[in-house]
Amino acid sequence: MNIIKNLKTLHAEIKFLKKINKKIGLIPTMGNLHDGHIKLILLAKKYSDIVIVSIFINPMQFNNLLDLEKYPRSFDQDCMILKNNKVDILFFPTINEIYPSGIENQTFITVPKLSNIVEGKARPGHFQGVTTVIAKLFNVIQPNFSFFGEKDYQQLLIIKKLVKELNYMIKIISLPTIRSKNGLALSSRNNNLNSQEIKTAPYLYLIIKKTAKQVIKEDSDIIINIINSSRTLLFKKGFSIDIFNIYDYQTLDVLFKKKKKMIILASVWLGQTRLIDNKKIFID
Ligand code: PAF
Repeated sequence: MNIIKNLKTLHAEIKFLKKINKKIGLIPTMGNLHDGHIKLILLAKKYSDIVIVSIFINPMQFNNLLDLEKYPRSFDQDCMILKNNKVDILFFPTINEIYPSGIENQTFITVPKLSNIVEGKARPGHFQGVTTVIAKLFNVIQPNFSFFGEKDYQQLLIIKKLVKELNYMIKIISLPTIRSKNGLALSSRNNNLNSQEIKTAPYLYLIIKKTAKQVIKEDSDIIINIINSSRTLLFKKGFSIDIFNIYDYQTLDVLFKKKKKMIILASVWLGQTRLIDNKKIFID
C-alpha cells in the first residue's frame, strides 16, 4: 500500500493513474476503521481499479473542541486493516496540508438548506466542514466513484447534492448501515462508550425499529404520539435526546403526518458520546 501524506505527491500519482485510464474509487474516512469501512472497501473494489482511502480527522467539521480531541485515533491498526484488504493508496494528510492558511481563512463550500436543518442545526458549521473537505478531496483525487455509509444519512444527501450541483463527474455509492449482532450501528465513536453504555446503546435501534413498526401499524395519519412515547422510552433507558423525529426522506422536512416515504433520524447522547442512527419507513 502506498501511503501518501502530501498533496503534491498525490496529485502526481493521480495524474499518472488517469493517464493509464484507471478507474479510481475513493472512500473518505476519519480513521478508526471498523467493519463498516471494510464493507465500503470491498464494494469499492468491485467498481474500481484503484481504491484510495483517505484518513483525515477534519477539524473544520467539529463544532466542539472536546469532541475533536476525544475522537478515537488508531493509525497503526487502520494501516493493518487497509493493507489486509489490499487498499492501493492511503492518503493521510496533516491539518496543515489541507488547511495551509488556517481554517478561519479557508474558502468553503455550503450546500444550502439541507446543511442547516436537523443535524446541521444541532451542530452549526458541521456540514460546511464536511462539504469543504470532500470538495477538496474530490478536486485532487477526481475519483470515478466515492463510497459512503447510510448511517450518516443527512451527510449522504448533502454530498449527493454537492456532486449534482457542482457538476462533479463522480458517482456516489452508498452502503446500508452495518450493525453489531445486537443492532448497534457500527461507529468509531462507539469506542468511547464505557461498559454500562455499551449495554444500553443497542436500545437506540430497538426503539427506532419499534417506532417504525408503530407508524406503519397506526390507523391515524398523526404520528406525534408515537414519537413522544419513543422519546420517553429513550429517556428512561438513559439517552439524552438531541434529535428524534420523522422526516420526509429527501427534503428532511419534519413530518407531523404520515407520508409514503419517511425516515426516522436520531441523534442521542449516551454519557459523553453522541450516537446517530436512522431508519427509512416506506409505506405502499
Ligand atoms: O463520515 C465521515 O467520516 C466524515 O464526515 C467524512 C465524510 C470522512 C468527511 O470528513
